Amino acid sequence: MGYANPQQTAAGIHTRLYSRAFIVDDRRRRVVFVTADVLKALQVKYGDVYRQDNVVLSGTHTHCGPAGYFQYTLFMISSKGYIKASIEPLVNGIVKSIDRAHRNMKPGRIYRNKGEVDDSSLNRSPHSYLNNPEDERDRYQWNTDKQVLVLKFTDEDGDGMGMLSWFAVHAVSMNYTNRMVSSDNMGHASYLLEQDKNPGTLPGQGAFVAGFSSSNLGDVSPNTRGPHCMNTGLSCDYLNSSCPVGGTKMCQGFGPGNDMFDSTRLIGHNIYRKAKELYANAVEEVTGPLHSAHQWVNMTEVKVQINSTHTVSTCKPALGHSFAAGTTDGGGDLNFTQGAVEGDPFWDGIRDALLGEPSNETQECHHPKPILFSTGEMNWPLPWHPQIVDVQIITIGSVAVVAVPGEMTTMSGRRLREAVKQELEAEATLRDTEVVIAGLSNVYTHYITTYEEYQVQRYEGASTIYGPHTLSAYLHKYRGLARAIAQDKVSELPVGPEPPFFKKLFNLLLPAPVDRKPANSSFGDVVQQVYPVYRQGDVVSVTFVAGNPRHSGDMREKTFVTVEIYDNRTAAWEVVYTDASWETRFHWLKGSNNRSNATVEWHILPSTPGGSYRIKHFGHFKQMKALRPVISPYEGSSDVFRVTDSFYYE
Ligand SMILES: *[C@@H]1O[C@H](CO)[C@@H](O)[C@H](O)[C@H]1NC(C)=O
Ligand SMILES: *[C@@H]1O[C@H](CO)[C@@H](O)[C@H](O)[C@H]1NC(C)=O
Ligand SMILES: *[C@@H]1O[C@H](CO)[C@@H](O)[C@H](O)[C@H]1NC(C)=O
Ligand SMILES: *[C@@H]1O[C@H](CO)[C@@H](O)[C@H](O)[C@H]1NC(C)=O
Ligand SMILES: *[C@@H]1O[C@H](CO)[C@@H](O)[C@H](O)[C@H]1NC(C)=O
Ligand SMILES: *[C@@H]1O[C@H](CO)[C@@H](O)[C@H](O)[C@H]1NC(C)=O
Ligand SMILES: *[C@@H]1O[C@H](CO)[C@@H](O)[C@H](O)[C@H]1NC(C)=O
Ligand SMILES: *[C@@H]1O[C@H](CO)[C@@H](O)[C@H](O)[C@H]1NC(C)=O
Ligand SMILES: *[C@@H]1O[C@H](CO)[C@@H](O)[C@H](O)[C@H]1NC(C)=O
Ligand SMILES: *[C@@H]1O[C@H](CO)[C@@H](O)[C@H](O)[C@H]1NC(C)=O
Repeated sequence: MGYANPQQTAAGIHTRLYSRAFIVDDRRRRVVFVTADVLKALQVKYGDVYRQDNVVLSGTHTHCGPAGYFQYTLFMISSKGYIKASIEPLVNGIVKSIDRAHRNMKPGRIYRNKGEVDDSSLNRSPHSYLNNPEDERDRYQWNTDKQVLVLKFTDEDGDGMGMLSWFAVHAVSMNYTNRMVSSDNMGHASYLLEQDKNPGTLPGQGAFVAGFSSSNLGDVSPNTRGPHCMNTGLSCDYLNSSCPVGGTKMCQGFGPGNDMFDSTRLIGHNIYRKAKELYANAVEEVTGPLHSAHQWVNMTEVKVQINSTHTVSTCKPALGHSFAAGTTDGGGDLNFTQGAVEGDPFWDGIRDALLGEPSNETQECHHPKPILFSTGEMNWPLPWHPQIVDVQIITIGSVAVVAVPGEMTTMSGRRLREAVKQELEAEATLRDTEVVIAGLSNVYTHYITTYEEYQVQRYEGASTIYGPHTLSAYLHKYRGLARAIAQDKVSELPVGPEPPFFKKLFNLLLPAPVDRKPANSSFGDVVQQVYPVYRQGDVVSVTFVAGNPRHSGDMREKTFVTVEIYDNRTAAWEVVYTDASWETRFHWLKGSNNRSNATVEWHILPSTPGGSYRIKHFGHFKQMKALRPVISPYEGSSDVFRVTDSFYYE
């Protein structure tokens, strides 16, 4: 989904996506924070216990998740429509995570702590950032926020139950060439802390839940070695991030690792390590009541008085030319470059012919953005972009979580935090509130830059869809929510216009074809066997005759892969890794004539104990029987192989 790259279709699993739910109740009110790897609004089924106003759904922003779950046309183009097989497991998984949190509630305490994570983020549009006023920039040491805020949840005996944290970095360590579902750097941080706190459990099964949430990451890249030209190794152009040969597509950010897996591991590990330390040392108790304030806002028509003489307005949604350039974390395919403040007659001509010309009103409203897609004026077959968005704040005692329906840049996030803090501080008990931005919450509306950054029209400015005053409108709206909380008048807030839910969603994705296999073989047969012996650090690989993973349907809490060790004491096989484990990679390889293979890799860590192992693969295949499709399960196993402890001789 994340790169909107039609070639990046799913073909395996790197790490799994989890929904992690946190429910807090102060005996009067209740709030739920869900760090899901999705952006879709949740249809919750708990009567009036969990409502629009007290449930925050916040995406980790992995770019390697399944697509096809968001009803607006622009987002359905690269996914070929609205895909039930994507949306149902996502929604059911999120609801299940809330069910579990609900069932496991017990009295406890919350502590907060914060610190800085180094070497894990880089501003990918420094030129836009530099357009912010100098006196404002001078107040900050860095052009990204390195802060990580941690909430530690314990029971009444002080035993840890979970951790929730926020850090601003894009989950784009895995690049668009990756075709495995992956939870990327933020998901890896969760995985590491959960493995640490739930020793001996398989991923997703321990009691301790660690959520790492997105924040004001709009202009923040994890690719810390920065962008350079992939073909020549030289620097990209600073202003337009393009390369002399190959243009935008060649200018790509890298690092800190040598490949994307290594970079994901390193960034995930940095965030995990800091959060773990902050968690261990958290002593400042979070006390005070819960509040939640939510409104729907029609973002196309918010008017804000910015000074005594001027009132400004947001616009109908539109994307600028630089949107199509992409970023240094994944460049676009065409010859667009970032920083365009003038249109291109060639592309504008094609756009006008195919999609229609943007109205003069919208063009003026978005100035200086040259409009590429006037999405607010495009309604076929369904509206291309949301107009109604959610604005929401929940306060958990002295922590205010500002749920933002998009990607705020570093400076936008700072301005919003400051505005909310100012309003809350009007109430004496809220003086010491820690304000945090929860990015990509509830609904997705691309980016939110400052007015000054917008003028530069790099990718983030071009993707600020409600025009140059988008941030001013949000500041106004969130101030209103914060004021209502400070004055305990949340119930007086107007609910706002309810967003539409479309019924006639299109789906152009064909059902997966029947599965074929080579003559004299069965699904699950091994076609490429393991070696008899491996050492720590090696990669085991085994290939099976496979069915299309789409035929396996909802695989939540099941696995396509196990790595098993033989336990000589019990004479039984014990599962040590699944397809959710960092150590395993499940690749599905589609061949001709509807045949396919599944290759499972196990990257043996240096700490892995020696022993006898096997790798199993589970799947389903589809056949026609009496002209009707029949789906059947299969499984296969590798030969048994040994992992020996490494010995080093000098
Ligand atoms: C990018 O900017 C450089 C000058 O800084 C210019 O030479 C180059 O043509 C620009 N590239 C594109 C594709 O516009
Ligand atoms: C993606 O990462 C792989 C290494 O894991 C690298 O070979 C490839 O060049 C990268 N591609 C892009 C577009 O960054
Ligand atoms: C948002 O407001 C505009 C301008 O008043 C209106 O035309 C549009 O229908 C509204 N959008 C929705 C979804 O209600
Ligand atoms: C109000 O803001 C506008 C637009 O930024 C500016 O042109 C104008 O001078 C400002 N007026 C006052 C009184 O500050
Ligand atoms: C992009 O490509 C088209 C077609 O090749 C060309 O007409 C146009 O001038 C190019 N635009 C830029 C900015 O290079
Ligand atoms: C925009 O305005 C110009 C001149 O005022 C006019 O020629 C043109 O037709 C208008 N375009 C649209 C889409 O209304
Ligand atoms: C492959 O699947 C397609 C779609 O179901 C079908 O039309 C085609 O006949 C199949 N080919 C073989 C060799 O089974
Ligand atoms: C399949 O097995 C049968 C019986 O063992 C044998 O006669 C035939 O040659 C085999 N076909 C292939 C393609 O291996
Ligand atoms: C499956 O793997 C075998 C062995 O490597 C290979 O010969 C065969 O072509 C592969 N089939 C597909 C569909 O990729
Ligand atoms: C477990 O038993 C097998 C055969 O019974 C033996 O080959 C193997 O060395 C034993 N493994 C360990 C770790 O003791």
